[in-house]
Amino acid sequence: MNPLLDELSEECFLESLKLIHAVTGITIGQNRKSMVQGRLRKRATELQMASYEDYLEQVKKDPSEEVVFIDLVTTNETCFFRTPRIWNYIYDVFLPEWHAKNPGRKFFAWSAAASGGDEAHSLGVAFQAFKEQNPKFSYQILGTDISAEMIQTCQRGMYRGRSIEAFKRYKKPWFERYMIGQGEEEYQAVAEIRNRIRFQTHNLFKPLTCPEQFDLVLLRNVLIYFTAADQEKVLHLIEPKMTSSGVLIIGESESLTHIQTPYSGIQPLVYQKKSIGSEKKAA
Ligand SMILES: C[S@@+](CC[C@H](N)C(=O)[O-])C[C@H]1O[C@@H](n2cnc3c(N)ncnc32)[C@H](O)[C@@H]1O
Repeated sequence: MNPLLDELSEECFLESLKLIHAVTGITIGQNRKSMVQGRLRKRATELQMASYEDYLEQVKKDPSEEVVFIDLVTTNETCFFRTPRIWNYIYDVFLPEWHAKNPGRKFFAWSAAASGGDEAHSLGVAFQAFKEQNPKFSYQILGTDISAEMIQTCQRGMYRGRSIEAFKRYKKPWFERYMIGQGEEEYQAVAEIRNRIRFQTHNLFKPLTCPEQFDLVLLRNVLIYFTAADQEKVLHLIEPKMTSSGVLIIGESESLTHIQTPYSGIQPLVYQKKSIGSEKKAA
């Protein structure tokens, strides 16, 4: 072990926080030094760096190390069907209304901080179940995340343990119908679902360039890592990628009430574009 990696100096810690913010938009509190030190030490040791300062220089000058740095500093906690009431809303309320109003149109959904893909695959399971009841329904899902390692996990699409524990228990019929065991307790969604999901890296602080306009955007449990001003930036970048009646859903510990955004709430955690809210009021 290199003794110079024992203690991250205050100056270098602050430099790390600046670099994390510049690269990912994530703001980490100054009380999280041991967490940051732990994450950087592992990688700096692997690369046999002489000091944390040298490691930060490497991140700044080497784009491939920046990719690894992003994987290091992001927190990727997720699971299938996280926050059940949101999934009840999507399946029982939002999809039937959307389908009735948009006959023959394809439905586009975006899991905008996809982590390991649990959320995008949960969408796939819910949409496939809805499609079986409504054969004319057709859908496509995009999952994006800033972490290249997470996108690889999404593309592999194999799930086990905590990731699927609640899914197995609370939505047993869907689990049995749409997930296939692949040995060693790993499960993968059926091909009909996998074929309708694609994954790519994307930083929420940049405009998303793809042809689709989304009917549903899940932006869950990622705003918590951003300052209020940065949350506003991200939310303004997402709005043009949504259809005029598109719905945005955030995480259960998040709120848009304290910031300026182009959205209005339609129920807890569920938002739509303000223009739609005012059209409805005027009508
Ligand atoms: C805690 S996970 C949330 C996963 C999932 N949405 C959920 O609610 O279960 C947060 C994810 O946001 C991603 N993330 C952080 N900053 C990002 C950024 N600037 N652009 C895109 N993704 C980002 C992280 O890599 C991480 O996978």
